[in-house]
Amino acid sequence: MATHVFHRDPRIAYPVAVRGEGCYLYDREGKRYLDASGGASVSCLGHSDRAVIEAIQRQLEKLPFAHTSFFSNEPMEALADALIARAPKAFEKVYFVSGGSEAIEASLKLARQYFVEKGEPQRRHLIARRQSYHGNTLGALAVGGNAWRRKQFEPLLISATHVSPCYPYRDRKAGETDAAYAERLANELEAAILRLGRDSVIAFVAETVAGATLGAVAPVPGYFQRVREVCDRYGVLLILDEVMCGMGRCGALWAFDEEGMVPDLVTIAKGLGAGYQPIGGVMVSKKICEAIAAGSGFFQHGHTYLGHAAACAGALAVQERLHAGGLLARVTPLGELLDQKLRATFGSHPNVGEIRGRGLFRAIELVADRATKEPFDPALRLHARVKKEALAAGLMCYPMGGTLDGSRGDHVLLAPPFIAEEAHLDECIEKLERALRAALAAAPSAAPGAKASMVG
Ligand SMILES: Cc1ncc(COP(=O)(O)O)c(C=O)c1O
Repeated sequence: MATHVFHRDPRIAYPVAVRGEGCYLYDREGKRYLDASGGASVSCLGHSDRAVIEAIQRQLEKLPFAHTSFFSNEPMEALADALIARAPKAFEKVYFVSGGSEAIEASLKLARQYFVEKGEPQRRHLIARRQSYHGNTLGALAVGGNAWRRKQFEPLLISATHVSPCYPYRDRKAGETDAAYAERLANELEAAILRLGRDSVIAFVAETVAGATLGAVAPVPGYFQRVREVCDRYGVLLILDEVMCGMGRCGALWAFDEEGMVPDLVTIAKGLGAGYQPIGGVMVSKKICEAIAAGSGFFQHGHTYLGHAAACAGALAVQERLHAGGLLARVTPLGELLDQKLRATFGSHPNVGEIRGRGLFRAIELVADRATKEPFDPALRLHARVKKEALAAGLMCYPMGGTLDGSRGDHVLLAPPFIAEEAHLDECIEKLERALRAALAAAPSAAPGAKASMVG
């Protein structure tokens, strides 16, 4: 029967998911899928966490929703307390929304309003990085740097300036040290600020560990310290987007913990609710809270579902599972085990150019030629083939194309649940290896220069 749902891709007949159990999802035909990507880095607790489900149920019995223009609610207050208690001292409050794009929109408006309150209304420019992903609403898409995602909506996007990502596999020069590479990128950011006007930039926006569009690329040591220095030199706010890489995914609650500096605003979502309820948030530093309190007094923003009580109750239970429940402590060792296993299987694979990532946020970048790093012809849509073959094998992974520039390059992102056992990692790698083999076999001309007509 024809569907009346406007699906993501109406050409695809999606299997219908009916049940989740631990690391697995089941479709209506009873087929089982190992969720090795947490959907898109969401389901960090797997799909049947009783504590989270029961916390949401209890909240729904008590109070499902109370509009935040009238009331606060208990789970929202408790969740904010829990996040602030574990954040650096610079942070004072949390603004709760319903997802990652909303979190980015709120952070951009908050950053702009901060300068208006401070008497610097001339600050109007945003700087972000090429090949980044910050969401699909218009503001988030505008700061996002993925050319393909932006292209057809370009006339609707507010202007944003994009600088290079920190992508050592392809962009670090031969013989360049981490420190020299970080310095070069910081200089590029500084040049962009000076070009736009030294007192006219609002914020620099970056994913701490780049996720969807670049594939689990961690910054080189010192990069964010240099970035922080440049931002401070010109009074520019630093917004770190941890929608995908935060909330324990890289081994710590905050991915920026490893970077030796503190941002001004941090966006979170995905793992915050772990998929049990839609929720996102913006961590707001004291200086921003104070500027608004001393100025107009309120943030001129809002949505109907801000701080939804049932969503906050679910996210609070997720925090308890991460900390008291000990799940966060599993991420680093399990991530290292996954890395070892990926290297054992793909370390000398002729089409795997790099194995990278942090914690349980890992990726392999696919190349036609390891020596030259030549990507596959984009017309082959190798990433789509891998996804199809993986699903057929009962594996959810997160392949993406356009790794280099929005058009060329393919990678496969893995973000397994923190509850995974070694056997799940083995199953993931065995199925991924099979899917990659099938995808390459189905694209016999999977080499540079293959014709567009090869597309299946
Ligand atoms: C880094 C980052 N920011 C923002 C978003 C947008 O989040 P959402 O899809 O919840 O709107 C995503 C989604 O993948 C993301 O990876």
